Amino acid sequence: MAFTLPALPYDFAALEPVIDTLTMQIHHGKHHAAYIANLNKALEGKPELETKSAEDLIKNLATVPEAIRPAVRNNGGGHVNHSLFWQLMAPKGGGGGGEPAGELAAAITAAFGTFGDFKTKFMDAGAKRFGSGWSWLVLKDGKLVIGSTANQDNPLMGEAVAGISGTPVLGLDVWEHAYYLKYQNRRPDYMAAWWDVVNWSKVSALYNAAK
Ligand SMILES: [Fe+2]
Repeated sequence: MAFTLPALPYDFAALEPVIDTLTMQIHHGKHHAAYIANLNKALEGKPELETKSAEDLIKNLATVPEAIRPAVRNNGGGHVNHSLFWQLMAPKGGGGGGEPAGELAAAITAAFGTFGDFKTKFMDAGAKRFGSGWSWLVLKDGKLVIGSTANQDNPLMGEAVAGISGTPVLGLDVWEHAYYLKYQNRRPDYMAAWWDVVNWSKVSALYNAAK
């Protein structure tokens, strides 16, 4: 069964003014859609792979035939990453923004110091990612860890492939396609504004599920 583009859990304009409407339309309707189309194309005629979830595919890249492994890594990663990314956001003041609560807040404080310290470290990971990639908060061996990946790599691919491993609980797309129309070259401004649309309830749910 072919992969399909999941609907956004909000309108294209819902994340204004942090993320503009046109960026959301192109990011979801063109970029994410292209990853899915290219993933489906790579898996065509391979029923043993077509029945797997995208997460399963990227977790087990070594079992994917070499001829299509780069395509599955890039486009499977792109599909998994973006499907997660949309859910990690919500309109400012309508589920987005504020600070984490409960166990997640305590775990962040224990691992990184204050919430402000955490944000600085998370943005630093994104700022230092040369070219395209993602900044991540993952749960690894029961501990929260910050890292980044290149291109559409995901921590689920494992350390040998992605450079970091663990279960993602928060991820920020730092590809230029995620911010260039509004922020141009100012990636740090985009990252700083993004906290206003982070859906901490969703992040908490992912953290609790990963534990
Ligand atoms: Fe993206």
